[in-house]
Amino acid sequence: MVVLVSGSGTNLQALLDASADPAYGAQVVAVGADRDGIEGLARAAKADVPTFVEKVGDYENRGEWDSAIAARIASYEPDLVISAGFMKILGAPSLDAFTIVNTHPALLPSFPGAHAVRDALAHGVKVTGCTVMLVDSGVDSGPIIAQEAVPVLPDDDQEVLHERIKRVEHHLLVDVVGRLVREGWTVSGRQVHIGNQPGNPNPSEGESK
Ligand code: GRF
Repeated sequence: MVVLVSGSGTNLQALLDASADPAYGAQVVAVGADRDGIEGLARAAKADVPTFVEKVGDYENRGEWDSAIAARIASYEPDLVISAGFMKILGAPSLDAFTIVNTHPALLPSFPGAHAVRDALAHGVKVTGCTVMLVDSGVDSGPIIAQEAVPVLPDDDQEVLHERIKRVEHHLLVDVVGRLVREGWTVSGRQVHIGNQPGNPNPSEGESK
């Protein structure tokens, strides 16, 4: 898999740690980012995983960046792309070429977007959580694969709550990605089913779009 990051990369680290065990069934073949100097890239380097950076600002327009990042990802021939705290919306060149899994720090469809933890706190919810889903052309709108709830406690601020969510998110992402690669998947409308289906004997050929 190719993992895309924009920040601290703790979800990436969870995937790197899990994939150290061959029984996990997946390896991180490259880590991509949309900016330099982030901890996520340092984590990849420390694990001897190749990295690349594609900045939107280095291209004439968004369409050129979309094509460039899709080409960079494709050069590693991944079976799966994981958007793990990657703060850019991927365009058609990536959506058409790859199965992309995203992790989000809220219980979708509540609180999509870049400020999910802040928005959940502001709304006063008592339970939030995390969602692992397939990426489609919308913002956090793809078919949901798995979710887990996390309580909001009375004195939480954004940082404390996000840390509590992330601890759950790491396990959920690792579990979902491992099951996808080991068991395959099918998608029917908004339903994602993990495990082989009749007529889909090869996990790597799961219908993903
Ligand atoms: C995660 O909570 C992810 O869901 C959100 O940003 C956070 C990234 O954390 N989009 P990290 O970079 O994996 O530490």
